[in-house]
Amino acid sequence: MEFSGLPCCVLSFALLLLPLSIASVELQKAPVSGRKQLEEDGFGAWRRFVAEVPSAGDATAQNSTFVLAAERTYRQDPMNGYQRYTGGWNIRNQHYWASVSFTAMPLFAIAVAWFLGFGIVLLLICCCYCCCRRRKHSYSRAADVISLILLVLLTCAAIAGSVILYDGQGRFHKSTSATLDYVVGQANLTVDNLQKFSSSLADARNIGVDQIFLPTDMQSKIDVLHTKINTSATALSTQTSKNSKSIHGVLDAVGWNLIIVSAVMLLLAFLGFVFSIFGLQFLVSILVVVAWILVAGTFILCGIFLLIHNVVGDACVAMDEWVDHPHAHTTLDDILPCVDVATADESMQRSKQVTFQLVNLVNQVIVNISNADFPPGMAPLYYNQSGPPAPPLCNPYLPDMSNRTCLPGEVDFNSASKVWKGHVCQTARVGGSDVCTTVGRITPSIYYQMTAATNVSHGLYYYGPFLAQLADCTFVRETFAALASNNCPGLDLYSKLIFVGLVILSAAVMFSSTFWMVYARERRHRKYNKQLSGRERVPLDF
Ligand SMILES: *[C@@H]1O[C@H](CO)[C@@H](O)[C@H](O)[C@H]1NC(C)=O
Ligand SMILES: *[C@@H]1O[C@H](CO)[C@@H](O)[C@H](O)[C@H]1NC(C)=O
Ligand SMILES: *[C@@H]1O[C@H](CO)[C@@H](O)[C@H](O)[C@H]1NC(C)=O
Ligand SMILES: *[C@@H]1O[C@H](CO)[C@@H](O)[C@H](O)[C@H]1NC(C)=O
Ligand SMILES: *[C@@H]1O[C@H](CO)[C@@H](O)[C@H](O)[C@H]1NC(C)=O
Ligand SMILES: *[C@@H]1O[C@H](CO)[C@@H](O)[C@H](O)[C@H]1NC(C)=O
Ligand SMILES: *[C@@H]1O[C@H](CO)[C@@H](O)[C@H](O)[C@H]1NC(C)=O
Repeated sequence: MEFSGLPCCVLSFALLLLPLSIASVELQKAPVSGRKQLEEDGFGAWRRFVAEVPSAGDATAQNSTFVLAAERTYRQDPMNGYQRYTGGWNIRNQHYWASVSFTAMPLFAIAVAWFLGFGIVLLLICCCYCCCRRRKHSYSRAADVISLILLVLLTCAAIAGSVILYDGQGRFHKSTSATLDYVVGQANLTVDNLQKFSSSLADARNIGVDQIFLPTDMQSKIDVLHTKINTSATALSTQTSKNSKSIHGVLDAVGWNLIIVSAVMLLLAFLGFVFSIFGLQFLVSILVVVAWILVAGTFILCGIFLLIHNVVGDACVAMDEWVDHPHAHTTLDDILPCVDVATADESMQRSKQVTFQLVNLVNQVIVNISNADFPPGMAPLYYNQSGPPAPPLCNPYLPDMSNRTCLPGEVDFNSASKVWKGHVCQTARVGGSDVCTTVGRITPSIYYQMTAATNVSHGLYYYGPFLAQLADCTFVRETFAALASNNCPGLDLYSKLIFVGLVILSAAVMFSSTFWMVYARERRHRKYNKQLSGRERVPLDF
């Protein structure tokens, strides 16, 4: 059953890595420093867009590193002369993996000791059976009864272990699937928001370059931001669906393997019991050999599940502590580059300013150009605009960036493009510029630019806070906090349950296989002694 070892390791790795990849899309690429990584992805581009915020708040500025899960991970490290490992939870540190693997060493040692020790015993028995001359064996009723009682008890223990294992794997599977689904849901939410933001930016392509309001550099900045955000969203989306599919596959495989292990071991214990009760020594010998190999396998499986249990527990404690110490520099910072809160706030402030200015620009065009009545000839300000005035756009912010409530007669982001549509006139080209030939306040090209500018400020207004949360890892912290409080207790308990079930099962089968032989032998002797007592007693070798 060793074949489930590799998927298990992959599973625990993947389980750890998937949440981390929520905010760090570039995770799979070569390890670069956190800051560089940040500069390359969409969030960095967003930060630069909303105004070249200086890259303040270096994570390395704080020298004291907070050690995650320090107490839990204080283990012996075989790679460092069995000194205690003090680096805390750090999946990039091989000493961490060495020290956590070392916790499963006793079980692997038991597996090897059993395999070699019992193998030698079997060999000796086999040799004796073939070569030694049999001595007369005295039948003892007490030994018979005791070994029968022990056999019954051990078989019951095997049944109990099997039930615990089966139950534990069902709960573990449910719990891991729920965890995975939650993480995938958070990733989906991120992708969804990024894509909506990105598509609102895509409208910026329609903003004319040589026109009245949006400056050229603003347009190219918007274009860059759009591309970066879209790339991040696409990468996160493909990575999420790929990882979640493969992790689900591994989880199913692990579940099936455990079910098969518990069923096979249970069958083995039962058959061994029955065969030895009926004294079928040949079948018992076959079963003993099978049990010899399987028990070694299940002890290795125990070790693997102890490892998983410890790694999951470490990760849970680490997540919890990371959430509780938002300002500490930790080993997670290399994997999850978080801009500090001050910088994220500043970006958010700039994002508000850009929104405010864009809305102001749109309103200046509406109030000072579209709704104004110029004397003919003042092109491009005069384009024969006429009719009812177009309503201005509601600015969500006051000049000091506090919230502003809309005045009556203003349109909000959602309805602006629809309302303005009613004020668009038909145009003809006169002397190189558009002139209204019907009643209306806005030419189609100005309408395009106004809606584009509106869409950009709308995107910044609605998704800016979310992007700020991504940048300063508030979103990831919330996700981790939810995982730590909702999913971790279950994962911890059920991986332990599987481990306990496996230990009981393998220990029970291990001891029963010895008693199968003893009891089957006792049976035979009893039978033989009975036969003897019915006939003339002749000393007999057999
Ligand atoms: C942190 O402090 C240690 C000694 O206390 C020093 O050797 C190391 O260079 C410092 N690192 C940074 C990034 O300041
Ligand atoms: C995440 O999104 C993908 C594709 O958009 C979808 O198939 C999947 O069901 C979503 N998962 C969750 C948990 O919402
Ligand atoms: C994002 O990029 C993908 C290709 O990378 C493209 O198919 C998709 O249309 C883009 N989305 C937007 C909103 O531009
Ligand atoms: C209209 O233009 C004048 C000066 O050109 C400016 O002072 C005023 O603020 C503008 N109106 C709006 C609503 O921007
Ligand atoms: C401003 O409005 C947003 C959303 O409408 C809200 O989350 C925020 O708390 C408000 N800020 C203040 C200072 O009222
Ligand atoms: C200006 O607009 C009016 C309608 O408001 C229209 O009747 C007139 O023909 C337009 N003038 C020119 C020069 O197109
Ligand atoms: C702005 O967004 C609205 C709705 O989201 C859409 O109908 C409109 O075409 C967009 N504007 C531009 C210029 O693409």
